[in-house]
Amino acid sequence: MPRKIIFDTDPGQDDAVAILTALASPDELEVLGIVAVAGNVGLDLTTRNALQVVELAGRPDVPVFAGCDRPTKRRSITGAHVHGEGGLNGPDLPPPTMRLQQKHGVDFLIDTLAAAEPGSITLCTLGPLTNVATALARAPDIVRRAGSIVMMAGAYFEVGNITPAAEFNIYFDPEAADLVFRSGIPIVMHSLDVSHRILTTPERLTRFAGLGNRCGKAVAEMLNFSQTFDLAKYEWEGAPLHDPCVTAWLLQPDLFGSRDVNVTIETNSDLTLGMTVVDFWQITDRPRNVTFSHAVNAEGFYDLLAEKLSRLP
Ligand code: BDR
Ligand code: CA
Repeated sequence: MPRKIIFDTDPGQDDAVAILTALASPDELEVLGIVAVAGNVGLDLTTRNALQVVELAGRPDVPVFAGCDRPTKRRSITGAHVHGEGGLNGPDLPPPTMRLQQKHGVDFLIDTLAAAEPGSITLCTLGPLTNVATALARAPDIVRRAGSIVMMAGAYFEVGNITPAAEFNIYFDPEAADLVFRSGIPIVMHSLDVSHRILTTPERLTRFAGLGNRCGKAVAEMLNFSQTFDLAKYEWEGAPLHDPCVTAWLLQPDLFGSRDVNVTIETNSDLTLGMTVVDFWQITDRPRNVTFSHAVNAEGFYDLLAEKLSRLP
């Protein structure tokens, strides 16, 4: 039986690769729906991009919902400086023909979890945690029926990418993150500490481009675009690849090394707002609320992505 998952996402080229890899893996993963959230770009664009990704994969049966259009307490920022004004710059994708679902994304999350066997659904978050936190605030007992949240968010050793102290998905809505991390739902967290070790080298992008299908070509074009900012910033041989860690962990968890730790979100300090304070060395007796992924087999990760993506149209 494939594992039932819901993506909560702000596509984003790396979000798109995470979703495509899951859609390429129907034996292992059943994508019940995709809920868009404001993040890398505004909600109007993240919803459009989610529809385009689903159509690119030839899977218009996967419903796409619009969730929250702004952080719970703060003003919106964007990641357009990395992802482009459209959020999914790179390939020339046709405008979507699929319709967005009428239901609000937060209602979809609540209704789906309410109807499911407790523990049977995995929430996969690739963006700010606004939708999940809004659902939690509205229906805590229902949302706690999620089996786990597997997320891309935060950092410990690599600290921050949108400020010196904070990673984008947490910084966008730190109060939402705080609620989610204190919810008691088991969390598997993939942070900059792993995404900074799986770089989009020229060889890896050439491999995607050469898969012989339209999805491989589009993935190469997406990542070729989104790496531009990070290549100039870090001067590494490739750019970090963030969100596909979530799908790769679901498909092949032995690619990652992890430890159970406490993670607490900074919501007060102006200087370190949105910091994920990871008790990696177990200095405190705070409860271990997160399985924190800190090591990754980069070659195995790219082999997995290439093999899965080659199955798409
Ligand atoms: C995260 O922020 C976004 O730019 C990416 O899509 C990823 O989810 C990395 O910090
Ligand atoms: Ca994202």
